[in-house]
Amino acid sequence: MTESAPSVSQALNAHVATVQPSATLAVSARAKALKREGRDVVALSAGEPDFGTPAPIVEAAHQALRDGFTHYTPNTGTVELREAVARKLREDNGIEVSAGQVICSNGAKQSVAQAVLAVCGPGDEVVIPAPYWVSYPEMARMAGATPVAVETSAASGYRMTPEALADALSERTRVVLLNSPSNPTGAVYSPDEIRALADVLRPHPRALVVSDEIYEKVRFDAEHLSIGSLPGMAERTMTVNGFSKAYAMTGWRLGYAAGPAWWVDAMAIIQSQFTSGPSSITQKAGVAALAMDEAPLEEMVRAFRERRDAFLARLEAIPGVVCPKPEGAFYLFPDVSAYVGRRTSGGSEIAGSADLALYLLDEHDVALVPGVAFGDDRGLRISYASALEDLMRAADRIEAGLAALV
Ligand SMILES: Cc1ncc(COP(=O)(O)O)c(C=O)c1O
Repeated sequence: MTESAPSVSQALNAHVATVQPSATLAVSARAKALKREGRDVVALSAGEPDFGTPAPIVEAAHQALRDGFTHYTPNTGTVELREAVARKLREDNGIEVSAGQVICSNGAKQSVAQAVLAVCGPGDEVVIPAPYWVSYPEMARMAGATPVAVETSAASGYRMTPEALADALSERTRVVLLNSPSNPTGAVYSPDEIRALADVLRPHPRALVVSDEIYEKVRFDAEHLSIGSLPGMAERTMTVNGFSKAYAMTGWRLGYAAGPAWWVDAMAIIQSQFTSGPSSITQKAGVAALAMDEAPLEEMVRAFRERRDAFLARLEAIPGVVCPKPEGAFYLFPDVSAYVGRRTSGGSEIAGSADLALYLLDEHDVALVPGVAFGDDRGLRISYASALEDLMRAADRIEAGLAALV
């Protein structure tokens, strides 16, 4: 008689087992599946510009291919790209870094993850203002650290106050994650607000900052101040930025981080063992992006502003919906908690933002991401990176869907 082999253990790494899959990708996938079934879904769930990558960037990639620039580059990126990034950070942001303090990665997502992984471990806390980008707490968890959410509200414009930051800091705090302009709220911290947060952080030598500035270029009048440019902050701040949002390059996968050499060097070790440097062709495209005339970017931002204004006006007309005016990125994050606790015509109770998003998708053909994925169950994230007429159709459906709840 042959003995059956013992079944294979499917035990996961304890840190990974607690990590949630990306909710934004999950909603987009469900919306796509419904579309494939023939449903006329308006999907406002994706976090990417609906514009094409500007021509000079595309041409630089073609040129790289024609030149045979198709081999491994140095792990942290080509010297040419790192020098261009360092120049950008010095000139645009007042951050004094050399090319040796820059690491280019496969997207800003990898940059943030490596920045956290390099310095955080079990026992450490990562302070994250909520609503936050879905990946931040999961990155902290993957490092074995504990995410500490700091609640903000629509009434306060979704910006963390210096007092709230001071309350959240402890001797266990290793990283404070800032994201201005913000995904999911579009909130932008004013220069004075950034300075006030820096004042709170300075007396805490163990508290580092990861400043995710990926939406820097997508702003409507609001000023942008990089916390890493302030006195006493350069030595503790990792500034992250990238190409996905500003240059409509989400699929190219290129981001970067710059900060203290000891920290960048640790990130480079992680990267060298996980992925190596980003695509050689994309890096050439990145150099072209940083060198190009910014007129196409301004055109994109103008379109986003028009859509923001149009959509916000529609939201403001819906009873019970509260939505601060976002000053950047391409998201609206209305507080729709007035509709929680109501019922659909079929009698199902809307217990929170996940139920509401599901109801709007399944019964009204509009895909939004539930706020609970961003740590705020009162809201829904609306990405307005779509054509104005689609946005207006979506606004009609949201309005009708909410009005139909009893
Ligand atoms: C706040 C924030 N940071 C980082 C990223 C990731 O950007 P990348 O495409 O460069 O990885 C995103 C993308 O949605 C984002 O919203």
